[in-house]
Amino acid sequence: MLVYGSTFGAREHYPHVTLGALDASTPLPKQDVEIHASSSCLQLYSVCLELSNSDSTVTEGSSINAWTLKLQIKFINQFPTTTIIYIGVVLGVMLSKSISVKLSKMAMANWVTVFLLMEVVLSGSRFGGADGLNMNYYLMSCPFVEPVVKNIVNRALQDDPSLAAGLVRMHFHDCFVEGCDGSILIDSTKDNTAEKDSLANLSLRGYEVIDEIKEELETQCPGVVSCADILSMAARDAVFFAGGPVYDIPKGRKDGTRSKIEDTINLPAPFLNATELIKLFGQHGFSAQEMVALSGAHTLGVARCSSFKNRLTQVDPTLDSEFAKTLRKTCSAGDTAAQPFDATSDDFDNDYYNALVRKNGVLTSDQTLYASPRTRNIVNAYALNQAMFFLDFQQAMVKMSLLDVKQGSKGEVRENCHKIN
Ligand code: HEM
Repeated sequence: MLVYGSTFGAREHYPHVTLGALDASTPLPKQDVEIHASSSCLQLYSVCLELSNSDSTVTEGSSINAWTLKLQIKFINQFPTTTIIYIGVVLGVMLSKSISVKLSKMAMANWVTVFLLMEVVLSGSRFGGADGLNMNYYLMSCPFVEPVVKNIVNRALQDDPSLAAGLVRMHFHDCFVEGCDGSILIDSTKDNTAEKDSLANLSLRGYEVIDEIKEELETQCPGVVSCADILSMAARDAVFFAGGPVYDIPKGRKDGTRSKIEDTINLPAPFLNATELIKLFGQHGFSAQEMVALSGAHTLGVARCSSFKNRLTQVDPTLDSEFAKTLRKTCSAGDTAAQPFDATSDDFDNDYYNALVRKNGVLTSDQTLYASPRTRNIVNAYALNQAMFFLDFQQAMVKMSLLDVKQGSKGEVRENCHKIN
């Protein structure tokens, strides 16, 4: 049996599903087929679309006349856009293959209209913070934006799972400097040294994933989707594909036109202590708890020796002595040698906090979260309760993704993410 559709929350059920496999060019499968718009029909979706075929065998090119369309209303919750898009995709496939269905096309069109209307009504005022942004920003102008991003991120992570870390960090470094406006993606020119060339950004990775998404979207809907939105969506999907929480973000960010190396001074240095981190994140409107939750992104990825060797020159009482030996060994291979933040550096989980409890934090700025009485209880809570961490993390990420966003004429949609138009 073949299953096409979204893998949201359903990897355990359909590990063989390739996200985005379902598109207009998908050849008709020869086997029995089930198409699931949201395959697990989790609580996350307002609608679960299920298409099944009662013929036992479908041959390529044949006309199928026994499809049934089951639309099941599950919950009216926060992620319906994707579902609507998948309904569109499924209908597109069916129509493009001239499949005759039990339900008339008219009846289906009515269903879709009803759901589109429901969607528009229900999503109207979901995000008060950034007025022009909303979940359905590209619904009409670029309806496949979500599956395109998910598909490309999924494929990139299948090739190199460690890129999840790169994308999440890139989004953070974008948002903390000049807001989430894609300024991190701009290349330096002879007249301007851009953010990406600052010391703090030299080890960022995953630019090629953003480029691939942009290229595909420029083919499908030229000049519509901003690089800032692409980066926010890619980071969100990277978290999910690494095993983290699923969440949606409002779209509609415009790209900025300023990217200067000196602005990166606002990025947190790895030797900051908890008080300094609370202050710095507070300047962006985050509480101490949100700062600790966001730091949990260090459940993914690695740090280079140059980022933590300051801890190895003298005895550090907050550092476990055995772990100090591990860090020293890493550093014996040079400044660029990589140390994973926790034992499962490609998996989004709460191991990072458990490492902090064992004094196995890599950076000063990691271990200080456990060393400081101001944040220790939060670390303990996340170490014990992964669900709590996931919930706080996703909320803090949505908040971060709205930092100083540029809207309307305050920004542009870059043609090429590397350059201002
Ligand atoms: C709390 C203050 C933070 C400090 C001081 C900090 C600092 C650092 C440093 C020094 C590295 C290693 C860079 C290298 O050696 O190449 C790193 C890696 C990373 N940071 Fe942070 N970070 C902070 C918060 C965050 C936040 C809020 C996020 C995302 C929401 C984040 C995501 C990441 C990720 C995913 C990596 C791994 C990157 C990779 O493997 O390529 N960090 N961070």
